[in-house]
Amino acid sequence: MLEIAIDRDQPAAEFYADLTSSAAALVEGESDAIANMANVAALLWQYMPGLNWAGFYRRIDDELVLGPFQGKTACIRIAIGAGVCGTAAASGQVQRVADVHAFPGHIACDADSRSELVVPVVKNGRIIAVLDLDSPLPDHFQPADEAGIVRLIGAIADNLG
Ligand code: SME
Repeated sequence: MLEIAIDRDQPAAEFYADLTSSAAALVEGESDAIANMANVAALLWQYMPGLNWAGFYRRIDDELVLGPFQGKTACIRIAIGAGVCGTAAASGQVQRVADVHAFPGHIACDADSRSELVVPVVKNGRIIAVLDLDSPLPDHFQPADEAGIVRLIGAIADNLG
């Protein structure tokens, strides 16, 4: 088993560089997308502060379907275009939402969630999944978090589908 030790207290750029290296090492040589999503969700859950949910929804036909995650039980199916995750999947754009209550159509899986970061997972030009991170803290996710997670997902996307 891979030994992972990441310093949570270092500056964001270094923290996310370490997190990306660890995620890449976890998925290297493994082609099973579910196993890789499970380990990456666990990695983010362990090391990112202030989360109450971390996981993936996979794009299957015209829906997002719940994938590996950490946190409370969640909605299983989300229509493309619905809520924060569905908007990310429909647009291909990262959704960094400071106040989920102000987001039209937000789907409240966990009533504690206050802010959210959703990053599309793109493989061969196609959105195959989204990574969803939720926080009970308002305005928790900052531009450095978005940049770090976009980089991490870009580095491992080929092994997530
Ligand atoms: N809040 C999300 C739904 C997924 S759960 O938070 C895990 C949304 O609006 O897409």
